[in-house]
Amino acid sequence: MSASVDQAGFEQIRTWLSQRCGIAFPPSKSELLRQRMERVLRRFEFDNLDRLAEELLSAEAQDVELAVMHAASINHTYFFREPDVLDRFVDLAVPTVQAQSNTRIWSAACSTGEEAYTIAIMLAARLGPAVLNKIDILGTDISGPVVERAELGIFPQRQFSQTDPQTIARWFRPTGIEQYQVVPELRNVCTFRRMNLKARPYPFTRPFQFIFCRNILYYFDQNDQAATVEALYHCLEPGGLLVTSVTETIRDLNNRWEPISTGIYRRTQ
Ligand SMILES: C[S@@+](CC[C@H](N)C(=O)[O-])C[C@H]1O[C@@H](n2cnc3c(N)ncnc32)[C@H](O)[C@@H]1O
Repeated sequence: MSASVDQAGFEQIRTWLSQRCGIAFPPSKSELLRQRMERVLRRFEFDNLDRLAEELLSAEAQDVELAVMHAASINHTYFFREPDVLDRFVDLAVPTVQAQSNTRIWSAACSTGEEAYTIAIMLAARLGPAVLNKIDILGTDISGPVVERAELGIFPQRQFSQTDPQTIARWFRPTGIEQYQVVPELRNVCTFRRMNLKARPYPFTRPFQFIFCRNILYYFDQNDQAATVEALYHCLEPGGLLVTSVTETIRDLNNRWEPISTGIYRRTQ
């Protein structure tokens, strides 16, 4: 398909993704977006992007909306991603977890759930497995298929490239060919739901002690980054921590955060 034929549809999809999901595809990423939308065209047997845009904007085809969101979002993740930040987080979290009868943690944009399970494993490794009885981890993502996979808790071997064999042996059971499933003890700590970070304010009545929002903000434009970080702020209890990726800085977005160390910020009031 030549770019000019369905350029109008392409631009409508690009705008929809930006406005509806906060996912920005600048001109430098146009080819990537086209490749991703090809999958949606094949699945629904649409001839071109004009046709896809028409369905998308009709707001009647929720399955098309979800397919476009899923194809556009980059779900790459793995266990123990950015371990230095995670180690530092655990150091900082331990006093709170020990002091509270229940600790609420949110992995926002969790993809297939590796981040949520990693947090549980690290806290259990530091404080003993009994700590899992007083931790609740919520993982959310805009993509339905990744949330379903997170709930299933079955992961291919490649997701464990940064995980040591003893950790795999302790917290996972082999299932199928080169796959592992999380043990129920760990599975029970994590709940997964579909949620669009662009639908603000967020619907939580009780605050979280810790929020992870990693490797997602850089897909958002500056306004959405600021609005997302602001909305996250209101979901944390005062003194709570926000963990971002080492490649994402929120310092310019909202000056009420106290930078603690690379990728970790504290809600001040
Ligand atoms: C690169 S993954 C990050 C996974 C994990 N946080 C990590 O750092 O490894 C980004 C995830 O953000 C999700 N995502 C994209 N736009 C979103 C939105 N508007 N709301 C919620 N999740 C979104 C994608 O579906 C994808 O699973």
